[in-house]
Amino acid sequence: MFELKPPDFASKTEAYAALESQLRALLQGEQDFIANCANTAALLWHSLPDLNWAGFYRLVDGQLVLGPFQGKPACVRIQLGKGVCGKAAATRKTVLVPDVHKFPGHIACDPNSKSEIVVPLIKSGGLLGVLDLDSPKLNRFDAVDQAGLERLVAVLLAASDVEIPG
Ligand code: SME
Repeated sequence: MFELKPPDFASKTEAYAALESQLRALLQGEQDFIANCANTAALLWHSLPDLNWAGFYRLVDGQLVLGPFQGKPACVRIQLGKGVCGKAAATRKTVLVPDVHKFPGHIACDPNSKSEIVVPLIKSGGLLGVLDLDSPKLNRFDAVDQAGLERLVAVLLAASDVEIPG
């Protein structure tokens, strides 16, 4: 049984370090990518404050396709280069959006979303998809979130057995 600890850490950096340990323990011994994405989304959803969506889009036949997530139902397919997710996938870089209304081409799956961060999933040089977090608060995500989430994504990818796209 996996126990979720409440996020009562002195600093956000400490909270992410603890989350990283929790994620390693949660994924230990399991290599299925979808199952691991599902548990990662659930861990983030229950551990990070002020989220209204947390989940994954997978790269399938050149498009981003909705994967495991927590939150309201969302857009199923996103073209590379479109929206925040498509930009992170196309540039292979994390995209941090303090105010989604100021991001040209933002795809509004949930009108409550005000800020967003999207981290690309890259393993052995291959793009597998993106991790997307949305918040109902403006400016919810900063460089500490970016660094912490990029480390969590690295843990997820290291644990999972995935076919690397050519
Ligand atoms: N806002 C995203 C679409 C996905 S939802 O937020 C879950 C985007 O602009 O790519």
